[in-house]
Amino acid sequence: MATKIILDVDTGTDDAVALMTAALSPDIQLVGATTVNGNTGIDSTTENTLRVFEWIGMPQVPVHRGMSRPLARPQMQQLNPASRIHGDLLDLPPTTLKPQPGHAVDWLIDTLLASDGDITLVPVGPLTNIATAIQKEPAILPKIPEIVIMGGAHDHGNSTASAEFNIWLDPEAARIVVNCGRPIRLVPLDATHRALVSTEDAGRLRALGTPAGEAAARFVLQRIDGYDATQPMHRAGAAPVHDALAVCAIIDPSVITTQFIPVDVETGGELSVGRTVCDFRFRSRRPANVHFAMDADERKFVAMLLDILGRTA
Ligand code: RIB
Ligand code: CA
Repeated sequence: MATKIILDVDTGTDDAVALMTAALSPDIQLVGATTVNGNTGIDSTTENTLRVFEWIGMPQVPVHRGMSRPLARPQMQQLNPASRIHGDLLDLPPTTLKPQPGHAVDWLIDTLLASDGDITLVPVGPLTNIATAIQKEPAILPKIPEIVIMGGAHDHGNSTASAEFNIWLDPEAARIVVNCGRPIRLVPLDATHRALVSTEDAGRLRALGTPAGEAAARFVLQRIDGYDATQPMHRAGAAPVHDALAVCAIIDPSVITTQFIPVDVETGGELSVGRTVCDFRFRSRRPANVHFAMDADERKFVAMLLDILGRTA
């Protein structure tokens, strides 16, 4: 039976691959997408999300526009220029679609309260929408079976030496979510950097001859260009597609390897703000709260993308 999910996105290039993977996978029922400020501003993350669904012929997937700045650090928004890895607008035709009326946070609350408690939340951007929904209506918590988050890092950050972008942009929101008491799987850089997609893989995606395969090839090549130039990985000509790995972990949990540990988020440190603090040795004597992924199966990940993105709506 397909897993129901809501994808919360700051659509950029890897969010776009995640959206297509979720929309086209027979193992996922994509209830809807909510957009948030992150890789670029809320207008563009919303436009980009709509462009993706229109491009793959799935205009029926509801998209709701969400929070336009972080909970407590609005200045963090200005620190995030449209990067070479994402740009501002995706390389897809401008959309003719519109977001649904109403704010994403209110739609999340209404949808979860009306559900049978069977909708997994999959935030792959800053956690501003999810934290705001929890604060506004705590009664949604028992209705959330799991939260699968792309974010965080133990070994090394990407926005700073300490922190990964999604957590760093809104650390207060991230702290609320990782301590909300619901089952959490965290797909951090420690996993996504072990599941790279290469130039050759992009060629295979393009050869699928599907709208999703073509778009994914474009975005992977753009990411490889950006990573090779600004954040070289352990091998050139390949780049992580972070958000798509979080979606694939729902389809086949064996694509990542997790450890159940206490994790919290630093919100006060000057050098460490936004760090996911991982207590692998239980020194804090706090109970484990997060299934933290420290590894990923690159070959399985790429094979899943080729299988799923070869489908059409
Ligand atoms: O650090 C990677 C994460 O930040 C990804 O979700 C990417 O889309 C950006 O949001
Ligand atoms: Ca993202």
